[in-house]
Amino acid sequence: MAVSIRELDEFGRRQLATATFEVSPRESALLLAHVLGLTESQILSRDREGVDRGSADRFHSLIRRRLTGEPVAYLIGQKEFYGRSFAVDSRVLIPRPETEHLIEEVLALDLPPRPRVLDLGTGSGCLAITLALELNARAVGVDVSSAALAVAAANIRRHRTGDRVRLVAADLAAGLDLQPFDLVVSNPPYIGGDEAESLSQEVSRFEPATALFAPRSSDAMIARLFDELDELQAGVPLVIEMGYLHGERLDNLLAGGRFTLCNTKRDYAGVERIAVVEQRRANTSR
Ligand SMILES: C[S@@+](CC[C@H](N)C(=O)[O-])C[C@H]1O[C@@H](n2cnc3c(N)ncnc32)[C@H](O)[C@@H]1O
Repeated sequence: MAVSIRELDEFGRRQLATATFEVSPRESALLLAHVLGLTESQILSRDREGVDRGSADRFHSLIRRRLTGEPVAYLIGQKEFYGRSFAVDSRVLIPRPETEHLIEEVLALDLPPRPRVLDLGTGSGCLAITLALELNARAVGVDVSSAALAVAAANIRRHRTGDRVRLVAADLAAGLDLQPFDLVVSNPPYIGGDEAESLSQEVSRFEPATALFAPRSSDAMIARLFDELDELQAGVPLVIEMGYLHGERLDNLLAGGRFTLCNTKRDYAGVERIAVVEQRRANTSR
């Protein structure tokens, strides 16, 4: 006799309760819903229905992978960001809730209609695509990883943004003409190699190192952004996400450069997470 949805869900919950890391009680139903092509509420409402052998095997395999620490978003191949679902896999960072604050901060800016947006370190494309849709913007997403750009391209197709979001393989803004842009956003890698041990196994073993770790020190990529975007027009905002200690270090990171701090925003944990900076206007003293 076929095993029922309820039996499989109960099995999954029991297995996941043995995990040595934090697992949400919802995850069993989420994985089962993914395998069966149902919603999570259908897992509850149709719990007496039988499940074919192949689907049950696929569910068991996902539970085994989850117990090794593989993130749920990679197992189901998607993650919600700012109300939309983005395709993700091990080639890209899983979009984080705190990065939604970057979108909120941009939406509060006074930008021209149909702004031109540059997203440096686009990964899944979640920032470029969300801003294209929220602001009716045209965006360019840049990444050094061609593997990440393939995922961003899949998300452009998924969200039908067409040529309103273009992708470029580059080392930050190297070789790009910055003049056309009305806004630059970036969630660069900002974890120092010395912080690797403080990361959960789910992050350090499964998410791409290029997306997590800044070369040399945690400041390296943020310092590069402040250094290398000096052709940006005065008054064009650069909105960045940063690590939990960068808020305190912003004055130092900005010292001697051409950018000035306009605003910071704290995340749900109270960490200064987003910074908005702009080039000083020509007649402003340094
Ligand atoms: C923290 S992830 C951010 C991904 C996505 N924007 C988000 O917010 O979820 C950083 C991204 O920067 C890319 N990256 C790392 N070094 C880079 C570089 N030198 N130039 C361009 N992109 C880079 C990584 O491949 C990764 O996709």
